[in-house]
Amino acid sequence: MSRVTIFGAGYVGVPTGAHFSRTHKVTIYDPDTEKINTIRKVIENQSDELHIHEKDLIELLRENHENIFLTDNIEEALKNPEFIFIAVGTPPNEKGRANLKYIYSAAEQIAANLSNDCIILNKSTVPPGTAYLVEDIIAKGLKNKVNFAVGSCPEFLAEGTAVEDLRTPDRIVYGCDDREALDKITHFFTFLQSSDSLCPMTTLSSELTKYAANAMLATKVSFMNSLAILCDTIGANVREVQEGIGKDQRIGSKFLNASMGYGGSCFPKDTQAIAEYAILQDSPLSIIESTIKINDATTEYFYNKIVEDFKDNLSGINFVIWGIGFKARTDDLRESKPVEIAKKLMDNGAHVHIYDTVPGALVNFERENSKYSGSFTLHHDQYEMFSNEIDGLIIGNEHEKFRNPDIDKLTTMKHKYIYDGKNILNNYLIRYLTKLQFQYKSVGKDSVVNGRDRTKLVSFLQDKYMD
Ligand code: UGA
Repeated sequence: MSRVTIFGAGYVGVPTGAHFSRTHKVTIYDPDTEKINTIRKVIENQSDELHIHEKDLIELLRENHENIFLTDNIEEALKNPEFIFIAVGTPPNEKGRANLKYIYSAAEQIAANLSNDCIILNKSTVPPGTAYLVEDIIAKGLKNKVNFAVGSCPEFLAEGTAVEDLRTPDRIVYGCDDREALDKITHFFTFLQSSDSLCPMTTLSSELTKYAANAMLATKVSFMNSLAILCDTIGANVREVQEGIGKDQRIGSKFLNASMGYGGSCFPKDTQAIAEYAILQDSPLSIIESTIKINDATTEYFYNKIVEDFKDNLSGINFVIWGIGFKARTDDLRESKPVEIAKKLMDNGAHVHIYDTVPGALVNFERENSKYSGSFTLHHDQYEMFSNEIDGLIIGNEHEKFRNPDIDKLTTMKHKYIYDGKNILNNYLIRYLTKLQFQYKSVGKDSVVNGRDRTKLVSFLQDKYMD
């Protein structure tokens, strides 16, 4: 059992700390007293509300409460840890680069308070080389004579499934140029996970792996989104193409869902950050630059499908949006595509009725969008807003509740438009909806309703492909 301090009680720090506490003694530190008190109340069964929404997290914290110590006091936090994991935010600055101010401040506080030998690992997503910077800051500011090593241990958990991702990771990546420290980190993780999943490497490789993973996943989505637009143009079905390529194990079936674009606190920020970093290093990653452009263009494509149906005049038009979080089962609205669409609709005179399965997502929407008050209504029931005043339904995320809607409850709609931003309705249901006079629009599946123009394709081929 090792003594670990987690720096930062956010989306990464709390689940990571809770997971480590299965086999290690963990101190979770955050200067924000409110966050620390919120976790304490949950652990002590005085509340069931955490500041982050993660399945099974509360149970995990309670189960391991004997191994968890919470503090907002930096001296207490740094009393004798063997490992420190920095899990602070690295939000993008106005140039799209990761802002390292919280990392800086964490390093300075560690330097001022560390009084024993320790390994410091960065969990936050940072530009490669940051561990060296942290090492220099600590070395310069160190108050006590101690030995330390700095490395990288990026996090790959996804929001909403953090506890499960941590419990059964595909891999644990960590890097440190100090060989002895690297072995100690390996030892630390062998108490938690199977050794097959461990990936020790150099510091720089580890830091870059984090960006590479997110950029690769985002590129898969953008690749499918650009194919989806071609599918709509020629009359193919992107879901069928997805299945056809995903069954090739070299390609893999995951992260191939075409959608109105990827969002969240990671993909947009990390693709931007690594693309910018590569340009600054004179080694541009043009493929990732394209990934970003395609993502923006796909959202525009989806939005245009909506406004075209109303001849570019949304004044007095009412939409329902099911799912406002950037994906299902999260209250996180950062870079959420449904939020982006909702704002554009409201900017152009529409009213939006919003439902999400996570009540916190609605609370966050209201807090962050006061300037739109009067242009939106929040709902805690999936169907209560349907009436003959509703013109369109937009499916914003992939929650199961939206896959098989109760169609009887939708039939009162004035204009029966359904915009499937996540392509989740199946072909059978789409055809059934069409029979009931609904008009279904998606990203890459329009052919289910419109078929394909065989004659047009044949003359295209005759014209362009025969000399
Ligand atoms: C992502 C990664 O999946 C995690 O491995 C990583 O640790 C995390 O970023 C991070 O860097 O902290 P997350 O942002 O929580 O996790 O969400 P994802 O499930 O990856 O989804 C990201 C976006 O892509 C969502 O908007 C989702 O709807 C979209 N997406 C995903 C698609 O449009 N199509 C897909 O096939 C998959």
